Amino acid sequence: SNDPLVVFTPSGKRGRFPAGTPVLTAARQLGVDLDSVCGGRGICSKCQITPSYGEFAKHGVTVQDGALSEWNKVEQRYKDKRGLIDGRRLGCQAKIETDVVIDVPPESQVHKQVVRKRAEARDIVMNPSIRLVYVDVEEPDMHKPTGDLERLCEALETQWDIKGVKSDLHILRSLQPALRKGAWKVTVALHLGAGELAPRIMHIWPGYYEGTVYGIAIDLGSTTIAAHLCDLKSGEVVASSGIMNPQIRFGEDLMSRVSYSMMNKGGDLEMTRTVREGLNTLFSQIATEAEIDQTLIMDAVFVCNPVMHHLLIGIDPFELGQAPFALATANSLALDARDLDLNLHPAARIYLLPCIAGHVGADAAAVALSEAPDKSEDLVLVVDVGTNAEILLGNKDRVLACSSPTGPAFEGAQISSGQRAAPGAIERVEINPETKEPRFRVIGSDIWSDEQGFAESIATTGISGICGSGIIEVIAEMRLAGLLDASGLIGSAEQTGSARCVPEGRTHAYLLWDGTAEGGPRITVTNPDIRAIQMAKAALYSGARLLMDKIGVDTVDRVVLAGAFGAHISAKHAMVLGMIPDCPLEKVTSAGNAAGTGARIALLNTDARREIEQTVREIEKIETAVEPRFQEHFVNASAIPNAIEPFPILKS
Ligand code: FES
Repeated sequence: SNDPLVVFTPSGKRGRFPAGTPVLTAARQLGVDLDSVCGGRGICSKCQITPSYGEFAKHGVTVQDGALSEWNKVEQRYKDKRGLIDGRRLGCQAKIETDVVIDVPPESQVHKQVVRKRAEARDIVMNPSIRLVYVDVEEPDMHKPTGDLERLCEALETQWDIKGVKSDLHILRSLQPALRKGAWKVTVALHLGAGELAPRIMHIWPGYYEGTVYGIAIDLGSTTIAAHLCDLKSGEVVASSGIMNPQIRFGEDLMSRVSYSMMNKGGDLEMTRTVREGLNTLFSQIATEAEIDQTLIMDAVFVCNPVMHHLLIGIDPFELGQAPFALATANSLALDARDLDLNLHPAARIYLLPCIAGHVGADAAAVALSEAPDKSEDLVLVVDVGTNAEILLGNKDRVLACSSPTGPAFEGAQISSGQRAAPGAIERVEINPETKEPRFRVIGSDIWSDEQGFAESIATTGISGICGSGIIEVIAEMRLAGLLDASGLIGSAEQTGSARCVPEGRTHAYLLWDGTAEGGPRITVTNPDIRAIQMAKAALYSGARLLMDKIGVDTVDRVVLAGAFGAHISAKHAMVLGMIPDCPLEKVTSAGNAAGTGARIALLNTDARREIEQTVREIEKIETAVEPRFQEHFVNASAIPNAIEPFPILKS
C-alpha cells in the first residue's frame, strides 16, 4: 500500500499505517513496548519517543528531516508545565505522516530491564504486578441508574481492555470522593492478578497521580530479616534495610524454635506475633529511610525457610520438627497483607515463593530463581550456607536439591572464640608455613596485623573474636602450615615447631592472638573448635556428594557460594577444608545474597513467579536423612580435606 511505513527501534517492529495515525496507536497494534498511564491524553508523558531522521539502509527507509519534529498544542502545554526534552515527542500526540523511524527510549518501555549489580548475573525484565492507569469515568445519570464502581469498571474495560476487575470494601469507601474530587478522572492502581484470579483495584487517586508505587522484597531469615524497597515503575531499589529477627529470644536456631512451640502452649502464636511485629518495625524503618508513605507499598514478596514460612503465616511448625517433615503446603501463596497484620497499603498483596521440600524452603527456591541452575549448560553446584545448608546441583537437563544440617558453627557459634561477623571479628587469616606465625585482619579494619598501623586500627575496632569466615581460614591455614593433621588434631609445640601450639585440656590449641596484656581477649583455636567445623563442613560436603552420586558424577563444572557467609569465605580455604568438592578455583564464585536477589526478581517480574513455581515442581528432592550413603560420605568428609575423596586440583 501507499500508507507510510513506521519502523520502531530497538525492537525493529514495523508496519504501514494510514497517515494521521498516532504513534502510540501504531505501537500498540504492532505490540511495541511503549508505556502509557493516561491512555493517550497527553498527561502522563510516559509515551515519549524520539523520531530519527536520515537514511536507514538497514530498514530500507529514508526519513525526511523534520518529519514529526513539531510539538502540537498538547505537547507545548505539557512542555511549558513540566518540560520536554528537545527532539522528544509524546507518542500519543505525534501522528505518522510519512515514512518514519521511531526510537523508544528505555524509560518509555514498560518491560524495561533493570540491571543487577553483579556482572555475570542476568538483568531483571520489569513486569511488576501493579499497574497504574488513568481513566475517564462516565458521570452518573438519573436516567441510567448505575453505581460509580460499575461505571469505573466499564471505563477500565473500554479504555484499557481490563476486564472482570474486583475490589474490596476499602476501595468502595474511597471511590466516591475520589471520583468527584478528580472531576470523574482518576488514576487507578491495579494488581494484575499474577496468578490470582482477577485483577484487583488497589487504590484510586483523584485526577492524574504523578507519583509511583512500591514493592518490597523480604528475605526472612531465622537470624536476620533483610528487605529491599523497590520502585515498581523503574525497578530501582530505593532503600535497603535489615533487622535481627526478634524471634531469636525463643531460640537461636530453627530447631529450638520448633521445640519452643512444642513445649509451650501457644508458643507458635507468640512467635508469629513477634516476627510480624519485627516486620512492621522494618517496614516503617525502610519507609522512613526512603522518605515515602508506607501505605504506598502495595506488593511484597517473601522468601524464607519452611519454619519461618509457617510461623509467618501463622501455622504451627510442629510437623516440620519430625519425620517425615510435612509442609502445610509447598505451593506458592498469594495472600492479603492485612491477614498477616502487616502494615503496608491496606490492600497490599503478599507473595510467598514455593517451598522445595520440608527442609528446603522458599529461600532455596529464590536461590534457584536467581542462579538458574535449570538454565545452565554446565553442571553447577549452588550452596547456600547457613545453619542449614541448602544445596542445588544440576544443569538444564535436571536439578536436584537437598538440605544438610550444618549447625551454627559456620556462624561462629560453638567456637570457643567465635562470634558473629561484626566489627572486631577476625575474618581473614594467613599462617606463614615456615615460621608458623599468623597475620590476620579484623572486620572494620583494612590493615593486616603485622603491618604498621594495625595497633591503631584495632584500638578503634578492638579484637573480639573470630567469625565464621575467619575460623575457616585459620583452620585451613593451620592444615597447610602442618599444624594440624588430616584427622583434625593439633600438634604439640615439639611436633610442629611452633610455640603457639600450647597445651589445652588433654590436647593442644593454636594461640592466634594474646591481648591479655592490654586487657583484651586471648584468642585460640582449640580441638573442639576444629571438631565443630569438621562436623559442619562434613555435613555440607556429604550433601553435595550425595547429589553428585545421584547424577553419577565425581566432579562439578562450577560452584556458586550463596548467602552472606558464602560472600565472605575464600574458595581456596573452603576447598582446603573439603567443604566443597574439588573444582578449579576460578570456577568457584560468590553470589552474595542470592535468596534476596531471587525475591527481588519475583517482585519485579510476575512471570518469574510462574517460572519458579514450574522449576520447583521439576526439581528432584533428595532427603539426606533416609540415604545410607549420606552417613558414609559424612564419615569420610570429617577428615581434612577428606579421607578418601581425591582433591587433585587442590594438590596442583
Ligand atoms: Fe500519556 Fe501520551 S500516553 S502522555
